[in-house]
Amino acid sequence: MSSQLILLLVWSLFDFGECLEMIKVILVAGARPNFMKIAPILREIKKHKTVEALIVHTGQHYDHEMSDSFFDDLEIKKPDYNLLCGGGTHAEQTAKVMVGFEKICMETKPDFVLVVGDVNSTIAAGLVAKKLQIKLIHVEAGLRSYDRNMPEEINRLATDAITDIFFTTEEHGTKNLINEGQHITKIHFVGHVMIDNLFFQIKKLQKHEPSKFVKNIKQALPEKYFCMTMHRPSNVDNRLTLKKMLTALQNISKKAPIIFPCHPRTHKKIKEFELEYLFDVYKDQNKVDKGIIITEPLGYNDFLYLWKDCAGMLTDSGGLQEETTALNIPCLTLRENTERPITVSIGTNCLVGPDTDLLKKEAKNILLGRFKTGAIPDLWDGKASERILRVIKGSM
Ligand code: UD1
Repeated sequence: MSSQLILLLVWSLFDFGECLEMIKVILVAGARPNFMKIAPILREIKKHKTVEALIVHTGQHYDHEMSDSFFDDLEIKKPDYNLLCGGGTHAEQTAKVMVGFEKICMETKPDFVLVVGDVNSTIAAGLVAKKLQIKLIHVEAGLRSYDRNMPEEINRLATDAITDIFFTTEEHGTKNLINEGQHITKIHFVGHVMIDNLFFQIKKLQKHEPSKFVKNIKQALPEKYFCMTMHRPSNVDNRLTLKKMLTALQNISKKAPIIFPCHPRTHKKIKEFELEYLFDVYKDQNKVDKGIIITEPLGYNDFLYLWKDCAGMLTDSGGLQEETTALNIPCLTLRENTERPITVSIGTNCLVGPDTDLLKKEAKNILLGRFKTGAIPDLWDGKASERILRVIKGSM
């Protein structure tokens, strides 16, 4: 056997040149939008013998439908640690995560801590990692709304100020980081893990039955209906703002019903402000032709089963602006700005902010088929996690 052939054989035994040293990565997730971002990365890690993943759930979100149901739906292994840090003020939440997470890092000594998105758990875990001199990876880095009234913007800025490896979802993210002085060699434009997950779950839906509850609602809905989510403090924490928004939405729902799985924060506010009268509840009726139908928060697959066929999405969520763009579904964003501008410039997103006249006008356009169509952003192709793993392995 020639020496070249022997070399090739040895090489292939070791996973085609994969570094032999084990790489230990802690993936941190705390709030609902984090779970779908770590899921595809975990699926990808499973393919690599030399990478070990530990999952730390900070417990920022803790209700079954906001947390555990996602682990089942997304097929993520149960967290290795749960810090149970839900509720409280921003400082309390952040501090609790830091204290708990520091102990885990000191005990497990990871090579990398990987954080996603922009929630309080993201910055809390990031600070701990950096002070212990563990390399910090930020997935979905560089996004900026330029609105410092949003707690998420502070979390994004602070996390990116201390990150070692940045993974961006769109070119704006890369540009923002460069403008803030980050070196180009630390930034990797890889596409979007959220879209990896979306494509994976869409395929799964063809085989998996949704819950009886959402199946019944779907059957009762007309061809054209809206889906909605709303939980931002700027929309829900003030009675007048919330009432004005809901009244406009109720007006829209006379033409096409709106399905609204309600976030716990919004639910508390609706009760406190006595606005329950603006909603309908689904009670096994055969037909739902109007009204805002309020439900408990839904699991990932159940909500996807409903929104993938809706005429339009009404939302203040970050992720749904992107997911609707990926499926070419019209999206009216109930915010004045977005940190995900590509969804507006080339996708199906339209910012309506607090302008309820614009909201009604654009909702009408959607129902009349007059809304813009979009294109899929670069690298939103379901392969972002693959690219991320390649970079992580090359960084050891
Ligand atoms: C958080 C994120 C936000 C993200 C959202 C997604 C921050 C600063 N904000 O906002 O970026 O878009 O998650 O949902 O990190 N609650 C429950 N049950 C739960 C979770 C929360 O009752 O499972 C209650 C909390 O006790 C609190 C309220 O909902 O009263 C808000 O929760 P919190 O995690 O502080 O912020 P979110 O509004 O969920």
